[in-house]
Amino acid sequence: MKKFKVGVIGIGNVSPMHCVSIMNCEQGELVAVCDNKPERAQAGAERYGCVAYTDYKQMIDEADLDVVHVVTPHYLHAEMVIYAAQKGKQVLTEKPMSITVEDAEAMIKACDDAGVTLGVIFQNRYNPGSQLIKQALESGALGKIKGGKCFVTWDRSDEYYSRSDWKGTWDKEGGGVIIDQAIHTLDLLRWFVDDEIEYVDAQIGNRAHAKIEVEDTAEGVIKYKNGCVTGFWTMNYYSYDAPVEIELHCENGIAKMVGDRATIRYNNGKEEVWEHVPGEEVDFGAGAKQYWGVSHSKQINAFYTSLAAGEAPWIDGREALKTQKMVAAIYESGKTNKRMFL
Ligand SMILES: NC(=O)c1ccc[n+]([C@@H]2O[C@H](COP(=O)([O-])OP(=O)(O)OC[C@H]3O[C@@H](n4cnc5c(N)ncnc54)[C@H](O)[C@@H]3O)[C@@H](O)[C@H]2O)c1
Repeated sequence: MKKFKVGVIGIGNVSPMHCVSIMNCEQGELVAVCDNKPERAQAGAERYGCVAYTDYKQMIDEADLDVVHVVTPHYLHAEMVIYAAQKGKQVLTEKPMSITVEDAEAMIKACDDAGVTLGVIFQNRYNPGSQLIKQALESGALGKIKGGKCFVTWDRSDEYYSRSDWKGTWDKEGGGVIIDQAIHTLDLLRWFVDDEIEYVDAQIGNRAHAKIEVEDTAEGVIKYKNGCVTGFWTMNYYSYDAPVEIELHCENGIAKMVGDRATIRYNNGKEEVWEHVPGEEVDFGAGAKQYWGVSHSKQINAFYTSLAAGEAPWIDGREALKTQKMVAAIYESGKTNKRMFL
């Protein structure tokens, strides 16, 4: 079996999810890591038994890679993906795809022009609860969605922001609670509805943080061309990371997700519950937050399976662009107080 030689750029918080998943993947071989902070690059190389680089271009040029994972601050995703593509590497980038829609489109074009694959991490689509709801929608069991809503109320304190040299800024993070935390849940809701967005009407604000310039609160409406209206409310000044909630009111019942647990109550009394599968665990080592779960590994395995088969990954650049456009419209609507038609 072909093993793809992989380099990971960005050895920060979420890097174990990538590095360990690659090492556990039959089709992947982690050969290099890169971080512009030399001590992080070195620690990563020692931990994963590979070569350290501090310059991502040098790693891409010299390490004989097939695939590059981009796990860096948001504003760097576009330039790194484009450079890797132009050098003929397949690419998997963390969410959000980029800060702007223009960057996201340039990333897709660069990968198309080079004939390489672009995958984007939205691992929560691989959670068992998400899969249950999606299957019940696709099979027609739930019928049409009549309405949907979601809440994300997490804890990202001023102290959390003060530990980062890029979070909390418009130019480097690209926003706050929407583009960084709620994006996962907004992506799930959009994927469940699975239709083109007609308009976004939202408000954003910073209501409880002293040190950041981006929003810590947002609420709004996303209306789809099929008539479905969904609402969201999110903030990251809560006192803990409360389980995310999504509810879909459908013709034949109500689908509800609270954290990882999805419950579908059909109008005929039947009930289905899917949640974390016991025994489905990956040890990502020190520093990894266990609540990130195993879905990174599932998406990374699926990415390599699709590469080996010469197929596009399920969550590719074009799929992620739809969510990027939704996020951009939330910001535009919030900043201008106008309804944004897509
Ligand atoms: N999918 C998820 O659930 C999830 C969870 C957390 C973070 N993320 C995403 O992962 C990405 C990284 O987040 P994080 O929390 O690990 O951030 P982080 O700040 O902890 O890590 C980023 C790393 O990139 C390095 N870096 C910065 N500039 C660089 C450059 N020019 N060259 C090489 N390395 C450079 C930094 O030194 C740092 O070590 C972001 O896109 C974030 O949104 C995703």
